[in-house]
Amino acid sequence: MIEIHKLHKDFGALKVLKGVDLSIKEGEVVSILGGSGSGKSTMMRCINGLEEITSGKIIVDNFDVSNKNDLQEVRKRCSTVFQQFDLYPHLSVLDNITLAPISVLAKSKEEANNKAMELLKSVALEDKESVYPAQLSGGQKQRIGICRALAMSPNYLLLDEVTSSLDPEMTAEVLEILKVLASQGITMISVTHEIEFAREISDRIVFLDDGKILKDLPKDEFFSDVGGKSDPRIAKFLSKMGNQ
Ligand SMILES: Nc1ncnc2c1ncn2[C@@H]1O[C@H](COP(=O)(O)OP(=O)(O)O)[C@@H](O)[C@H]1O
Ligand SMILES: [Mg+2]
Repeated sequence: MIEIHKLHKDFGALKVLKGVDLSIKEGEVVSILGGSGSGKSTMMRCINGLEEITSGKIIVDNFDVSNKNDLQEVRKRCSTVFQQFDLYPHLSVLDNITLAPISVLAKSKEEANNKAMELLKSVALEDKESVYPAQLSGGQKQRIGICRALAMSPNYLLLDEVTSSLDPEMTAEVLEILKVLASQGITMISVTHEIEFAREISDRIVFLDDGKILKDLPKDEFFSDVGGKSDPRIAKFLSKMGNQ
């Protein structure tokens, strides 16, 4: 379980997160929606300790993100896929996927390779094991990014706008993979602008506005008129995303 209590995050004088309370149970698929600059990425980065929090608490499976001794345990449990792929350009696809399992989880090369090949097969890229990221399309890079995150067998998969840099065709191929994962019961926290995708896969929708949670509702309630759309800020966001 991920528990966020009264989370505040400032960058100097800029207050970005202003008291976020959120808990995510294992097996839940939660989509984080909200306008640009509302603090979605900052919140995701706080969850796995990429940003030091200003105040409040984040607990991941009983490990405290702010406790230096707990941080590695937190990071083992949470794997993140980012918008900009962030694959290591000098490493082959296979080495990109096996680096952390070997160095952080102390897996043998053989075990890590076997798992990597299994993951590559699941995203139909098993023929790409020895190529370098520059030789891949954006959609392929992102599928490799997902394999790299899953290679750590994380309890929580954190996705931050993973399709925002992709054209519609590549977006569709990546979303397809995420839909399968969501249906297999992985816990997923996904920041996305793909409203239809969020509607399809999520158990819950959390809407962040100006560093605060404006709504945290079961998916159906959020998308019904009584729920999400009744708030003008949410209505505006949804209509901007083409989902009036
Ligand atoms: N490292 C940083 N230093 C200073 N300001 C930052 C930093 N990261 C994010 N911000 C600011 O925090 C606010 C929220 O950013 P972000 O979390 O990326 O929003 P979102 O992902 O919802 O678009 C923005 O005003 C952004 O400029
Ligand atoms: Mg962002």
